[in-house]
Amino acid sequence: MFTSIRLSKLKKKSTSISSPVTKYTELEPALCQELQKIVDALIVRGKGLLASDESPSSLQKRFDDLGVKNTETNRRDYRQMLFSADKSQFSKYISGVILHHETVYQKTTDNVELIELLRERDVVPGIKVDKGLVPLFGSKNENTTEGLDNLQERCIQYKRDGCHFTKWRCTFTISETTPSQLAMVTNANVLARYASICQSARMVPIIEPEILSNGNHGINRALEVHEEVLSILFRTLQEHRVYLEGMILKVAMVLSGIKNSVNCNPQIIAENTITALQRTVPPAVPAIVFLSGGQSDEDAVVNLNAINAYEGRKPWPLTFCYGRALQNTVMETWSGNSEKVEDAQAVFLERARLCSQASVGELDPENGVCTKKSSR
Ligand code: 13P
Repeated sequence: MFTSIRLSKLKKKSTSISSPVTKYTELEPALCQELQKIVDALIVRGKGLLASDESPSSLQKRFDDLGVKNTETNRRDYRQMLFSADKSQFSKYISGVILHHETVYQKTTDNVELIELLRERDVVPGIKVDKGLVPLFGSKNENTTEGLDNLQERCIQYKRDGCHFTKWRCTFTISETTPSQLAMVTNANVLARYASICQSARMVPIIEPEILSNGNHGINRALEVHEEVLSILFRTLQEHRVYLEGMILKVAMVLSGIKNSVNCNPQIIAENTITALQRTVPPAVPAIVFLSGGQSDEDAVVNLNAINAYEGRKPWPLTFCYGRALQNTVMETWSGNSEKVEDAQAVFLERARLCSQASVGELDPENGVCTKKSSR
């Protein structure tokens, strides 16, 4: 699907006495082109991404709630059900799927690689490469994300095995004293280092600085934090020479905290979200995708629609990269029962159709948006 090119070598430019700054060459043109081609395959009007990269441990609670045993076979069966949904509808709404390591190497009951099901649907496979949250020592209960060790080798192997993009998530908590400067600077550096390594391995990085919405803050505070986190992030991406045209930004919408009693309407959420992005994200970035972040299925769709319908400057496509808001009701319908596979697939395709409409601001509110109440 994508041209094969050699990895670019980062070479030092000669430095003059008057300029002590060491500069590095840009990525090779062929590599830039390859990254852009991957972005083009992922960012298509009316399509979005499915985040199906939950680790076995994060599936534990969800499977427990449904009485499904969290075994490798059940996780395979669940993903097989998702990826074998009707080809033409799947590829009409979904352009890429983020996988967990385990899924990349699993086969269907008929011995077909799961990744092959995606290829058959013209869907680009991607891979979550971070290794999860760890405490950020020196902070008060904040986190950073580990997984940089051997990252280039892992990416090269995943590329050989058919993945073309990656995801890495860092999280930020809003309180009176957080996110701290330490957390913002550390995580920006972690994300930038991740992104530059992935690009060197011919993979498009999805850079995800998730600002969590648990807390009792109002939407103004969420706006302020988004602006601060994203400005520091983009400054750091520049310092690490990340090729902005060959990345995708994944963010949360700007929302009030789940413990805040003021419920903002979709227009206010759209206005605040677009404002935060306009003030911080360069137009060179080819696309921004949203996580659903524990919003109800309905809110995740209605708010995405409002963002796309919002009349303001939006130099990037704004689409979905949902995990829970695409899968909550699907997983419930499936519940480990092989006789429910077709029903669950129908629910999935309907969720994907609604997200697709919302991604172009053309959601038909008469058309059964609400399938699950808020879990926030
Ligand atoms: P959501 O369940 O919040 O949509 O998560 C998607 C995701 O990939 C988070 O990293």
